[in-house]
Amino acid sequence: MAIRQVRTIGDDILTKECKRVKEITPRVQELIEDMFETMYETNGVGLAAPQVGVLKQIVVMDVDDGNQYVLINPEIIETSGSQTGPEGCLSVPGKSGTVTRPNHVKVRAFDENMEEYELEGEELLARCICHECAHLHGQLFVDLVEGDLMDVNAEEEE
Ligand code: NI
Repeated sequence: MAIRQVRTIGDDILTKECKRVKEITPRVQELIEDMFETMYETNGVGLAAPQVGVLKQIVVMDVDDGNQYVLINPEIIETSGSQTGPEGCLSVPGKSGTVTRPNHVKVRAFDENMEEYELEGEELLARCICHECAHLHGQLFVDLVEGDLMDVNAEEEE
């Protein structure tokens, strides 16, 4: 496993559409392991492959609910409610902003064995699913921020 360099805002790769994953190769397995290691090292709760420079539809998440989630080719299939709160991103270091997201999200994805599954989340997990899935389509949270981006010190970032 290895820690990979996190791309930051201004890097073109963060604005691109990611490709769907067709099969789990050793390279994809290694990427997923590295993404978890990179996310933990940087105290993030989620990380998307383009953030480490790979244009594949892969997301990893750990929102401290005892699970390590891998979302491959995720599609959000249901949302409801709303939540408004602070959000950050490992690709936008030192900044946070207020973003409104659905409070409940259901996503269909494949896991690290290419088994299809559905995941439902509320609050932070719902926010994280939306934030990370947006990365796969070249979208950053900064475009959704209400008001100004604020400086933060050592807050949890996605
Ligand atoms: Ni992010």
